[in-house]
Amino acid sequence: MCGIVGYIGYRDAYPIIVKGLQRLEYRGYDSAGIALYDGTDINLSKTKGKVEDLRNKSKSTISLEGNLGIGHTRWATHGVPNDVNSHPHYSNSGDLVIIHNGIIENYESIKKALTERGYTFTSDTDTEVLVNLIEEVQKTEDVMLGQAVQIALNQVVGAYAIAVFDIKKPDEIVVAKLGSPLAIGIGENEFFIASDASPFIEFTNNAVYLKDEEMAIIRLGKEIKLRKIQNDAVAYPNILELQMNLEEIEKGGYDHFMLKEIYEQPRAILDTYRGRLLADQGLIKMAGVDQNLEKFLNANRIIIVACGTSWHAGLVAEYIFEDLARIPVEVEYASEFRYRNPVITDKDVIIAISQSGETADTLAAIKLAKEKGAFVFGVCNVVGSSIARETDAGAYTHAGPEIGVASTKAFTTQITVLTLLALKLAKEKGEFSESQFHEVLTELETIPSKVKKALESNALIEIIADVYKDSPNCLYLGRGYNFPVALEGALKLKEISYIHAEGYPAAEMKHGPIALIDEQMPVVVIATKKGHYEKIVSNIQEIKSRKGKIIAIVTEGDEQVTQLADHVVEIPETSESLSPLVTTIPLQLLSYHIAVMRNCNVDQPRNLAKSVTVE
Ligand code: AGP
Repeated sequence: MCGIVGYIGYRDAYPIIVKGLQRLEYRGYDSAGIALYDGTDINLSKTKGKVEDLRNKSKSTISLEGNLGIGHTRWATHGVPNDVNSHPHYSNSGDLVIIHNGIIENYESIKKALTERGYTFTSDTDTEVLVNLIEEVQKTEDVMLGQAVQIALNQVVGAYAIAVFDIKKPDEIVVAKLGSPLAIGIGENEFFIASDASPFIEFTNNAVYLKDEEMAIIRLGKEIKLRKIQNDAVAYPNILELQMNLEEIEKGGYDHFMLKEIYEQPRAILDTYRGRLLADQGLIKMAGVDQNLEKFLNANRIIIVACGTSWHAGLVAEYIFEDLARIPVEVEYASEFRYRNPVITDKDVIIAISQSGETADTLAAIKLAKEKGAFVFGVCNVVGSSIARETDAGAYTHAGPEIGVASTKAFTTQITVLTLLALKLAKEKGEFSESQFHEVLTELETIPSKVKKALESNALIEIIADVYKDSPNCLYLGRGYNFPVALEGALKLKEISYIHAEGYPAAEMKHGPIALIDEQMPVVVIATKKGHYEKIVSNIQEIKSRKGKIIAIVTEGDEQVTQLADHVVEIPETSESLSPLVTTIPLQLLSYHIAVMRNCNVDQPRNLAKSVTVE
């Protein structure tokens, strides 16, 4: 989704903004733009395409001087991606410029009213309507920019993170947030604005994350004050000291962020259970769970809400919670849940899973569940994100920043947190003896080294990728705990290589997908020893007799499947309940290599955004 960067201070704004926009490229975008104030004029440049295209265009068309500026990467919602629809947008007088992430739902009626008052519009965007509404308020109410923004925002319906400045008052930028993220970096006599902290982390570790319905007038030489958009209540900002460092958000020698993040998984999983999993004491400590244990133990059921990969992690969790903790679980797409009038009571526990913590549908599902009195627990990666704040309690995955649009380490660390939670509840409910509990905790501690071992298949997987890189379709099959892994493997392949892929429970194949199988069809089968092995062997036989090409993920030392399959990738043996943490690794690598071989943009696949902040 759109990315926002802004700067006001004593440094040259241009390089900070352009570099910042590049750091936000992972969010997904189709055009980019920048507006700089050089002491006299606003210089604006924007273009369809990449930040690199913007850099080339602005070098030859505008002055790059100035210590105040705003920049934007646009992910089109209203109006096709083109130069004119790109942000920033001027107001009609040319005095105001704005950047916006989100959607103004009632922009058409506002546009009509403004048109009647003589305003003209050059773009098809809702954003140009908003900046002119602000200008109109400034004129009719005779107020300063901050107040005009506040009055205007009270007239709009929708979601936004905005940054706007006025040439008449070039010592301030006004920002506001509802539904889309916005962070302010606080330096010595300088301020940074961004959709997340990555554009300014090399300049300051101090940041304020705006809450929904908050705005700020960022004025040089003044302390930041936050104001509610609906009324004049002033809030004192909670300045956080960020733990993120520059190294974490750079590629560190890998060709792509996705590959780096795949390889980070042994460390990320370890970081996620570090300090929580105390195998020698037979304990799992999770503050957000410990403080709300009764809610979990008295719950009628757990409802998991999430989207995409996070939803797949939720499906894995359903197996774990039901199998180990004997708690009934439902897993819902947040986008469906929020609109289907679900039956929720105060005896339900909702678990919302989200890497970014900003997914609009998941946030809306949380709000709905809270309104109905349910206790909502968040599993997020991004610290301080909207979902982390909206939920009653939660547990962070400690994956570190995930920049590649295709989630990898987010998935395995989400499963890790959910496994810890399920095991903790299982223990509390008496589903495990001390020795069984100790055994499973000890096994969980072996997962990072097993993931490392699974990564050693990289070269073999590259060879397999070369064989199937031109296939138009691919089928992924798994059973039990590994059915969601099959779904996730298929999602990874389609989103970054644009090959059509489907994930199925292996036994469902004969109810339809088997019709697709011929000698052209690669079928990836998760066929590890623990969990329905004999059944999977039968499914593989069914594929083989129809001449499908079989790529099997097997347990080290496997003989039976190895004889049947065209290719096998061995992974270390694990218990069935922990196996998704390992079986998913070869599938991530397979999709990565196929995408690279097809010259696809692995880290920024077409049409996709890292955090989907609009519904
Ligand atoms: C997966 O590779 C995608 N990036 C996407 O499906 C993602 O998991 C989904 O948009 C949910 O995002 P979230 O975890 O940040 O809420």
